[in-house]
Amino acid sequence: MQTLRVALGERAYPIHIGSRLIGEPGLILPHLPHKRVAIVTNEVVAPLYLERLREALRGAGVEVLDIVLADGEEQKNWATLNSVFDALLAARCDRGTTLLALGGGVVGDLTGFAAATYQRGVPYIQVPTTLLAQVDSSVGGKTAINHPMGKNMIGAFYQPRAVVSDMDTLGTLPERELRAGLAEVIKHGLIRDAAFFDWLEANLQRLLAKDPEALAHAVLRSCQIKSGIVAGDEREEGERMLLNFGHTFGHAIETGLGYGAWLHGEAVAAGMLFAADLSVSAGTLPKAEADRIGALLARAGLPSGAGGLTRDRMLELMSMDKKARERRIRFILLDRIGAARVSSAVPAAAVGAALACLA
Ligand code: NAD
Ligand code: GLY
Repeated sequence: MQTLRVALGERAYPIHIGSRLIGEPGLILPHLPHKRVAIVTNEVVAPLYLERLREALRGAGVEVLDIVLADGEEQKNWATLNSVFDALLAARCDRGTTLLALGGGVVGDLTGFAAATYQRGVPYIQVPTTLLAQVDSSVGGKTAINHPMGKNMIGAFYQPRAVVSDMDTLGTLPERELRAGLAEVIKHGLIRDAAFFDWLEANLQRLLAKDPEALAHAVLRSCQIKSGIVAGDEREEGERMLLNFGHTFGHAIETGLGYGAWLHGEAVAAGMLFAADLSVSAGTLPKAEADRIGALLARAGLPSGAGGLTRDRMLELMSMDKKARERRIRFILLDRIGAARVSSAVPAAAVGAALACLA
């Protein structure tokens, strides 16, 4: 097992990465104010991993409530959030109850937001079971549900007490989900670490074949990059915006097509291609580097384009981006692979050129 720390002062927490961790109550017990937890999971993950986690905790004398949600991005909504509150209240869970998010980013984001708001805040622990959640959504304390008008529009910054990433759970992850998670791994190389991007180019086949050593390296390096950025800018006032590379376009695609039509990682991959093209049209990134990015995303089996959305619709949806200030969209541009920056002065013509492939 490898352990990193997210250095956030009194809200610092460990990220444990390794094999057979779901059966290790010792990683969770030190973070519980009382021996009472509510595991929030979904109907796909529950038959796979709920029993193992529940029995490990019960064996350590912890009282466990389970809350099993329906599956899918479209569950990141008020009604499902409310069903979590209903279950917590019906079981008379108090402020000493810790929520455990067992699942992918949907369960993690929703459970984190439930924890941020239930009785004005209870502790929570992330137990991510998708590659995307292990490399990205479980770390950093962004919690949210979606609004019909915009992705992740209702939420809170609220850090977990710990992240327990059991790499064995990736064994059951469908191939399409694995590829979607790779999009966020590739993002980390693009914004911060050219050598990691080179490593991804060289090791993509191992990752797609679920080679445990390659996956562990991808998760560890991603968590190192993300936790370093979050430690310096928890509430996204500056550097953390870099983690949104491709997301202005990607969130527009997810909202425009309807939540769940494309996977989040797929929309981010297509968004990163638009953002690379924008970097070329804004004059910051050499075209050859954008071609390299496109080639790696294509080899990873990730989509391009916007699923039939028109240029005008994309622009309308992008204007809702949470990074926008005084109606100006802020874009993340690449200067080269491994170096990104925020720009609020991208000419409209450059944005138009990046979206030129759309009707
Ligand atoms: P997801 O949570 O929908 O999980 C993907 C699918 O895999 C689901 O059907 C799920 O039930 C299933 N699944 C989960 N673990 C499994 C396993 N081990 N074996 C088999 N099936 C399994 O999607 P995701 O890609 O994990 O997360 C996407 C969400 O994360 C989006 O809502 C996105 O906005 C959010 N996100 C949040 C952050 C953040 O910083 N908070 C960052 C990135 C993405
Ligand atoms: N996924 C972007 C962030 O956590 O800031």
